[in-house]
Amino acid sequence: MNIGLILAAGSGNRFGEKIPKQFSLLNDKMLIDYSIQKFSNSKFIDKIIIVAHKEWVSKLKHKYKVCKIIAGGKTRRESSFLGLKNCPNKTKNVLIHDSARPFITTDKIDECISNLDYFDSVLVSKKVTNTIIRIKQKVEVLNRNFLYSNQTPQGFRFKIIMDAHKTNNKKDLTDDFSLLDSNKTTFKIISPPPNNIKITSQEDLVLANAIIEKNNESNI
Ligand code: CTP
Ligand code: MG
Repeated sequence: MNIGLILAAGSGNRFGEKIPKQFSLLNDKMLIDYSIQKFSNSKFIDKIIIVAHKEWVSKLKHKYKVCKIIAGGKTRRESSFLGLKNCPNKTKNVLIHDSARPFITTDKIDECISNLDYFDSVLVSKKVTNTIIRIKQKVEVLNRNFLYSNQTPQGFRFKIIMDAHKTNNKKDLTDDFSLLDSNKTTFKIISPPPNNIKITSQEDLVLANAIIEKNNESNI
């Protein structure tokens, strides 16, 4: 069984609106609706679990009757772990996705799941194009040829990511792949679909509206 786990329990502090950003409207649909739709359209996804902000659990239950909706935790990591704990016993693979990324495509979701036949984990990620410096006591210029910027979805064979959550005590990791020991697990990097941006601040919503207008995505 393949599970789509959609994380939507954040508060959107950097976005700065009263309601969490994943429930903001983008061309008449909530941001989270886009991801749910793309996961629903995948023939490989057997069940969707939405980890929601506690004030939105009942609204989502009403709207998405075939999905399982649970309340999330204080950090992304906690929300993700709660989602994993709510996966059915028969779960073989899980794809974890940020609801703040509306432009994921069903094709990419399918590509991620298909690759889990060959790899323990898959991550949508791409090489950075900017020069990255690390400032900690001194300034270090990192070689960008070795640097990747992780997005979601990230997919895992279920037992591997569950064990990683149980045994790794790093608290504030901002994705799930970072919990794995890459010496012990195989992984594949999947190139992102176009425009797989994460809505973080208001200017990202402006960009998202422009992307929709350009691609005429309003009816997807
Ligand atoms: N997320 C979650 N539970 C949390 C924190 C984050 O499910 N306690 C989810 C968010 O809803 C989002 C994804 O993880 O879809 C990525 O997190 P981020 O972009 O950081 O969203 P927020 O934490 O809501 O935003 P901010 O950090 O600005 O408060
Ligand atoms: Mg956050």
